[in-house]
Amino acid sequence: MKVDILLGLQWGDEGKGKIVDVLTPNYDVVTRFQGGPNAGHTLEFNNQKYVLRSVPSGIFQGEKVNIIGNGVVLDPALFKVEAEALSKSGHDITKRLLISKKAHLILPTHRLLDAAYEAAKGDSKVGTTGKGIGPTYTDKISRNGLRIGDILVNFEKKYEELTTRHKQILQSLNFEYSLESIEKEWFEGIEYLKQFKFIDSEYEINRYLKNGKNVLAEGAQGTMLDVDFGSYPFVTSSNTISAGACTGLGIAPNKIGDVFGIFKAYCTRVGSGPFPTELHDEIGEKIGRLGHEFGAVTGRKRRCGWIDLVALKYAVMINGVTKLIMMKSDVLDTFETIKACVAYRINGQETTHFPFETDADIEPIYVEMKGWNTDMTKMQSENEFPKEFKNYINFLEKELEVPIQIVSVGPDRDQTIVR
Ligand code: GDP
Ligand code: IMO
Ligand code: MG
Repeated sequence: MKVDILLGLQWGDEGKGKIVDVLTPNYDVVTRFQGGPNAGHTLEFNNQKYVLRSVPSGIFQGEKVNIIGNGVVLDPALFKVEAEALSKSGHDITKRLLISKKAHLILPTHRLLDAAYEAAKGDSKVGTTGKGIGPTYTDKISRNGLRIGDILVNFEKKYEELTTRHKQILQSLNFEYSLESIEKEWFEGIEYLKQFKFIDSEYEINRYLKNGKNVLAEGAQGTMLDVDFGSYPFVTSSNTISAGACTGLGIAPNKIGDVFGIFKAYCTRVGSGPFPTELHDEIGEKIGRLGHEFGAVTGRKRRCGWIDLVALKYAVMINGVTKLIMMKSDVLDTFETIKACVAYRINGQETTHFPFETDADIEPIYVEMKGWNTDMTKMQSENEFPKEFKNYINFLEKELEVPIQIVSVGPDRDQTIVR
């Protein structure tokens, strides 16, 4: 068997959580392969809303196995809050969630370093989620990090060594902080974690595949936030793309099956960095209002704009997307005109390449289409789609050269149309 991957094609928040939940009945195992609590994946069903940070979005669909893979960075304190809230709402995850021994730990001082580095950058700050993601991956790559498996052996000493180094850096940055209360919560999180099974997830996942089980890998963030291919340096610190599932789970490239690429019918971004189709007018405001575009983690207002096919084509290429999923189509239900960016004009030159320079002055070149002006939120089949919406789908499929298999018309699990 192969691992199917579901990942974001834009700047995150495409609706990954909702669709992983919808697809989970087809799978035996759901696993996260990168990122950490910078993610906020929202699911809605039975009039309940859940936001998952580190726990895979397959946790609500029966007795599926859920795995936090080695590529993930985990904050024990935030994980405890998340797991306890799930338990309170009747979803005990202790028996269904396995954690890789090789996943890295986010320390309280990683969070402080995240804040200190952002403060030092001033106006050119990334606008991170403040969860310590960058400093934790930095320690991983520079071979200083602490992993889940370290909790079991001589942990206090390793913790002391790493935090001493962090404190020196914080001091050199003149960053004022107080560690006591967050450190206390963090160690409570470490104790809480011990009831979960720590595994060699690479062996486990490959064993599932060998035994004919279906595995779904759930991406976090989005392709344009990938540390190599995103709008660097305004990116996250992991490989969010399909290749990241190989290193983040320990599966070989020839074990990848379908790659589900998920995107919004428009585009959003939270934090700093280039966003060529961003709208600073009342249309952008309206998209944000109707789409409730506020960060699930930070509550920050998301920047909004039209769909960007230059960036989307790039993302389809990098990920080897085999099936597309279009989200939040209903948010565009009341627009007279819909626009799609098909090229950029940079220094008077037209191009369909996403530029290297983050400060490039990009003028988007748009194709305009007539809006559908129809409420689609109660539709159950594609036969009900208005003509103009069908045109929009056909146009996107032609441009992206990949079929759109799922269309989402609302946040609820039931507002999902499989074509
Ligand atoms: P993720 O990080 O990719 O899982 O996405 P988020 O949960 O951060 O953001 C997606 C938001 O859109 C959530 O509030 C969802 O409940 C909501 N949502 C998902 N699909 C749809 C849809 O088709 N229509 C509308 N209106 N909202 C949706
Ligand atoms: P999900 O999984 C949207 C953005 C931050 C910032 C940049 C770096 O819910 O789609 P970080 O804290 O990772 O160092 O921040 O990446 N970012 C996200 N934006 N959705 C996310 O996750 C994000 N995770 C990080 O806003 O610009
Ligand atoms: Mg999100």
